[in-house]
Amino acid sequence: MSKAPRHFLDLLDMPAGELRAILDASVAMKKRRREGLIADRPLAGKTLAMIFDKPSTRTRVSFDVGMRQLGGEAIMLTGAEMQLGRGETIADTAKVLSRFVDIIMIRILSHDALTELAAHATVPVINGLTRRSHPCQVMADVMTFEEHRGPIAGRTVAWTGDDNNVLASWVHAAERFSFNLNVATPQELAPNKPLKDWIRASGASIRLGTDPEAAVRGADCVVTDTWVSMGDKDGEHRHNLLRPYQVNAELMRLAKPDALFMHCLPAHRGEEVTNEVIDGPQSVVFDEAENRLHAQKGILAWCLGAGG
Ligand code: CP
Ligand code: NVA
Repeated sequence: MSKAPRHFLDLLDMPAGELRAILDASVAMKKRRREGLIADRPLAGKTLAMIFDKPSTRTRVSFDVGMRQLGGEAIMLTGAEMQLGRGETIADTAKVLSRFVDIIMIRILSHDALTELAAHATVPVINGLTRRSHPCQVMADVMTFEEHRGPIAGRTVAWTGDDNNVLASWVHAAERFSFNLNVATPQELAPNKPLKDWIRASGASIRLGTDPEAAVRGADCVVTDTWVSMGDKDGEHRHNLLRPYQVNAELMRLAKPDALFMHCLPAHRGEEVTNEVIDGPQSVVFDEAENRLHAQKGILAWCLGAGG
């Protein structure tokens, strides 16, 4: 019988040691490339299918370029252009794609659709963002923190904004990589019950609250994200709730003097973050974007058992 594929669906599915090994491989590949050693082609002859049911700039380009750099190829598919958009089932799509390609990455709002795809695929499936989580993003973010500040274990990250997919992956990362996470959200947009239950059961050092100043005080890193994620209903009420959670110079001053500012991008400047902060010396947002490429090369290599 063939071995079960190695999916990358959520950080909470993965042992901490495996996540650390992926990051170590990512860092090593980035270093070798910087040194001009570009001969690593562990995925030669392999093809990645990328399914996008929602828009993307970073995820799309970084997976495509990452496959090329590893010697493989990527095919871009959109839900609307596939028979999936006309009612073909996720299960049948998974079985068919598995006959053609070696690995699948999907961005789709329904997390159940992701897990169904993975259940029926005979090749690895990577979560390229669902409503529930965005694990590739936070792997790149942890890598970015450590590049700038050394080991993240024992450090404090603060999140200010609403509960969303990126926050869920930060929550999982806090437990897996052993750092403290302070979360400030409006009561109405606080983490949902399953995430709260997971936090409680995990015993991770995660503080949930509603006060952005309390969350950010003394933090090593301040993180936020758009107030309106894909699939959210936009509106004045949401903006009014979130306005006090904006990351501006005044809020950043409460963090450690050398605190980093992170944002997965795309940013809505003037809403969740001011230009002064996102373009300021503490911001590492473009390093995070670049590290999507490097971290995902580590993830691709891990899924395909190709080393790095
Ligand atoms: N951060 C992120 O996933 O960006 P894209 O939506 O552009 O892929
Ligand atoms: N929380 C955002 C992340 C975009 C990369 C969204 O889901 O739209």
